[in-house]
Amino acid sequence: MSTAEPRRTGVHVNRTQVDTPAYEGVRAQEPATIVIFGASGDLAKRKLIPALYQLQASGYLPERYAIVGVSRTALSDDDFRSNMLEALRTQLGDGADAPTADDPVVGALHYQAGDVGDPESFVRLKERLETIEKERGLPGNRLFYLSVAPDFFPVILKNLSAAGLIRQRGEEVWSRVIIEKPFGTSLESAQALNTEVTSLLDESQIYRIDHYLGKETVQNILSFRFGNSIFEPLFNQKYVDHVQITVGETLGMEGRRGAYYDTAGTMRDMVQNHMLQLLCLIAMEPPSGLEARGIRDEKVKVLRTLVPLSRREVADNTVRGQYGVGERDGEMIKGYRQETGVDPKSTTESYVALRLKIDNWRWAGVPFYLRSGKRLAKRVSEIAVQFKQPPLHLFRHLGEDDEFAPSVPRSNILVLRIQPDEGISLSFACKQPGMRIQLEEVNMDFYYGEVFQQRPPEAYERLLLDAMRGDASLFTRSDEVESSWRFIQSIHDGWANLPPPTFPNYYPFTDGPDEAARLFEGTQGRWRRLSEV
Ligand code: BG6
Repeated sequence: MSTAEPRRTGVHVNRTQVDTPAYEGVRAQEPATIVIFGASGDLAKRKLIPALYQLQASGYLPERYAIVGVSRTALSDDDFRSNMLEALRTQLGDGADAPTADDPVVGALHYQAGDVGDPESFVRLKERLETIEKERGLPGNRLFYLSVAPDFFPVILKNLSAAGLIRQRGEEVWSRVIIEKPFGTSLESAQALNTEVTSLLDESQIYRIDHYLGKETVQNILSFRFGNSIFEPLFNQKYVDHVQITVGETLGMEGRRGAYYDTAGTMRDMVQNHMLQLLCLIAMEPPSGLEARGIRDEKVKVLRTLVPLSRREVADNTVRGQYGVGERDGEMIKGYRQETGVDPKSTTESYVALRLKIDNWRWAGVPFYLRSGKRLAKRVSEIAVQFKQPPLHLFRHLGEDDEFAPSVPRSNILVLRIQPDEGISLSFACKQPGMRIQLEEVNMDFYYGEVFQQRPPEAYERLLLDAMRGDASLFTRSDEVESSWRFIQSIHDGWANLPPPTFPNYYPFTDGPDEAARLFEGTQGRWRRLSEV
């Protein structure tokens, strides 16, 4: 197997068409009020308000709309506007074309202080919404965004409903609710939450958000697979050796994250949602169409094939990790257990690697390897599809009697890079120029940033726009959530019955615990090193 870095070949990608924004086809047409619970929180400042700003700037918001922030802090509309303006400038830049107080999104901001546990707050909210909607000529379509801790989801929905703030399906004006993750912390709690939520809302009104699905490169997985004829015929057990899905982060527990994270761990925070969604998209069958139902039906079929693991299988197929204290560039790096909000004896995983199988006709016998972790060597998300070696390896003898000859190249690898350096690469063997027959592995690379000049929409822009348009295809359905929990729950149950892990077991800014290599034991494969991805 060659360990040298493959040479990169420049591949020219022709752009045949320059997009002009097709506003009318995809813009949100119906005037609406967007109500954000948790408006003073981090998500609103870093993602939601900037996303609405960008949607307005690109012409995707309806002609008339209002944004109403709700949280406990007492603030006037003007205070809220100036806080959000500051947040916009922090996120989008402070240069000559920086957001100003005159921007329509800033003018559309309103604020209502309220305690989400107090039904009276919702009565006042209703009055306030009616006043704002009257002033701005809005019909009463409402998109509620629950950007709050999950414990508050049920009480907010109950109080919204009790105050008459939720319109039933079929009424002239609509109510929709976006629910942030995590949707439950176990199979049981996810089922209980689904029962509560669906007792108040029709499934068509519920938008369970997973921001990975809003990423351009994640959406491109389906376009790539089903918009081309040359790759899809190879995506099966006949040609694929294995698939590796990596979501690595260099971040640790910045800010106040530690307290939340210590109750979740990587399995709940990343694998149950984002990574299983990536798995679904790379493994699913072609949907009957691009509408929500077709896509969700196929994703759920993949999740149902993930057979819950026994304790023995959990021990064999999963590896947990937790970063210890380290040093980088002369600076001391806290270990996970030293992070603010984390129990000093915590056994919560900040890294997880797992091997799973998809029990269906297409993928029988093909292992899927997933790994994700904090404080790894590199921030990278990618899906690497490794193909099998050709059945007759004509070149296997090359290099046997020539110590300078490179060894036989690895099999073809197709990499879908989700972030950063968004793009796709395909490695293949090529004859080195010269009189001898020598093979070398080279890459065909496509970089989004080089080919497409326009700014890709941020995940939250896309998802907010879709929710306003009533398109739920990039949101998760109740059965998807429950099927993914069923599998994840079996791993948590297995861990609970196994001896506690010996933590910490990896040094910060590395590839994670060495033990993860054992998932490849008995195969020719190995994890892609983060430095090479
Ligand atoms: C969030 C997790 O859902 O996704 C975080 O809670 C994680 O822990 C984040 O850092 C990663 O998102 P992205 O878009 O930066 O890859």
